[in-house]
Amino acid sequence: MLKMLHIPALLAMGVLSVSVYAYAAQTRSVATPPGSYGLDLVHYNTVERSDGSYRRMFIERSALGRLRPGQPFPDGTRILMETYLSEGSLGTVFHKQKVNGRWQYGSFPGLGRPDLSVAPRVSCLSCHSRAARTDFTYTRPGLDAVAAGAQPAQFLCARRGRTPCSLTVYRNGAVGQ
Ligand code: HEC
Repeated sequence: MLKMLHIPALLAMGVLSVSVYAYAAQTRSVATPPGSYGLDLVHYNTVERSDGSYRRMFIERSALGRLRPGQPFPDGTRILMETYLSEGSLGTVFHKQKVNGRWQYGSFPGLGRPDLSVAPRVSCLSCHSRAARTDFTYTRPGLDAVAAGAQPAQFLCARRGRTPCSLTVYRNGAVGQ
């Protein structure tokens, strides 16, 4: 909400481009997922991409209650991420779970049967290792905010695909690269 209030002022100052303004005009649905994949989930972030795709992140309610600021995620924590190629067009659901102190990863087609099995996947970890300081979780700041009572933040990471943005983007929930 804060971002929306500030964007006209920033535009007036010539700080932001028109394409960023177009982003602010879109509001993504934050309704409960089509299925909840058999879990009790809390939505905590929506990250938009410059190619029109976006991702919605969820954590299991029980895990959210056990989260402590500045501490690693407790064992058993499960996080899901829905990918949307465009508004309402659900693609793959990615997920991960802390098992014996390590993240394990899994995925399934969002419109198919949920497969919540996880395994240590090097291909996932290799990219998530860039977020080692936040326990391999880019969106940890969004989780801490929601755990403290904030509404789920929605922001733009102005890079294509799954290329990570700088960690300040995830931290501040600010439009940026
Ligand atoms: C090329 C980099 C890259 C790869 C490879 C990657 N991810 Fe991610 N992942 C990200 C980024 C960046 C985010 C934060 C959301 C965003 O910016 O779109 C993220 C977010 C997530 C989240 C939400 C929680 C968090 O960590 O912030 C889950 C769950 C997730 N990824 C699972 C997976 C799984 C499972 C795989 C392997 C099949 C995988 N990822 C591979 C970059 C990657």
